[in-house]
Amino acid sequence: MGATGNVGRQVVARLVAEGVPTRALARDPDAAAFPAEVEVVRGDLAEPESLTAALDGVESVFLVWPFHDTAGAAEVVKVLGAHAQRVVYLSSTAINDKGPQSDPIPERHAEVEALIEASGMPWTVLRADTIASNALGWAGQIRAGDVVRGIEVAPTAVVHEGDIAAVAVRLLTDHSHTWRKYLVTGPRVVGRDDQVQAIAAALGRPLRFEALPLDVARESMTGAGLPAALIESLLSMAEFRPRSDLVTTTVADLTGHPARDIRDWAAEHAADFR
Ligand SMILES: NC(=O)c1ccc[n+]([C@@H]2O[C@H](COP(=O)([O-])OP(=O)(O)OC[C@H]3O[C@@H](n4cnc5c(N)ncnc54)[C@H](OP(=O)(O)O)[C@@H]3O)[C@@H](O)[C@H]2O)c1
Repeated sequence: MGATGNVGRQVVARLVAEGVPTRALARDPDAAAFPAEVEVVRGDLAEPESLTAALDGVESVFLVWPFHDTAGAAEVVKVLGAHAQRVVYLSSTAINDKGPQSDPIPERHAEVEALIEASGMPWTVLRADTIASNALGWAGQIRAGDVVRGIEVAPTAVVHEGDIAAVAVRLLTDHSHTWRKYLVTGPRVVGRDDQVQAIAAALGRPLRFEALPLDVARESMTGAGLPAALIESLLSMAEFRPRSDLVTTTVADLTGHPARDIRDWAAEHAADFR
């Protein structure tokens, strides 16, 4: 699930490369463009009954929850529990296990984790740090100029989506990871300007990050047509999410290669910003 997304597409590619029989759920199978080895089935997480046939005979499910609230999540988890043998859920390192959540994004991930844990079905949770591919959202601004304007967010150890996918494949295919939570981060804590500077180095031209006041950011995101719930979640993240100094060795421990730096990510994705 989420197979056409930044992380999910790489999970699918790695499973195929390892010769694991793979079925991908897509809302529009004709547009999904997967390799021939992949069985593509139609389904929509907003219509739990559409998942039943897609789950027939499935062993491990990779679950992303792409919505801005958890309406319908209990029904989806129920269907997963009834039709699949185990689930690997892509969650967030921003969850605070010791107290209230800082903002709606970790709140939503914690709620889905709780539903999965209460379901009784075998689970593994992959909590990812900020995904490097979020920066693809800056591509339009970078093509058009040398300033990236956006919300300032507290620094975290931004992680390459390919490293998340590599860990996910280990969790999907090795059942010894069941009933455990894994925290997956990049190799160092970086801020927005560090990410922009990595892209600048990859492109060989100067760029700078300019933090927008939250009311200006709200106006700009509304003008760009982003859903209101997403805008409010992002603004809350900007306002309340604390800095995270968490850096884990999960990528190296599970995959045998070190987590890639954002400079590596930017070099690989330079064409996306030209
Ligand atoms: N962004 C971060 O920094 C971050 C950090 C930690 C965790 N996460 C988690 O990681 C998840 C995946 O991230 P990503 O960057 O890979 O996401 P993404 O590129 O935005 O992809 C979202 C995926 O969800 C699918 N989807 C959307 N609505 C759906 C629906 N109604 N039914 C079925 N599938 C639907 C999309 O498929 P189609 O549109 O093709 O149907 C797409 O495959 C996020 O949802 C979030 O929970 C994100």
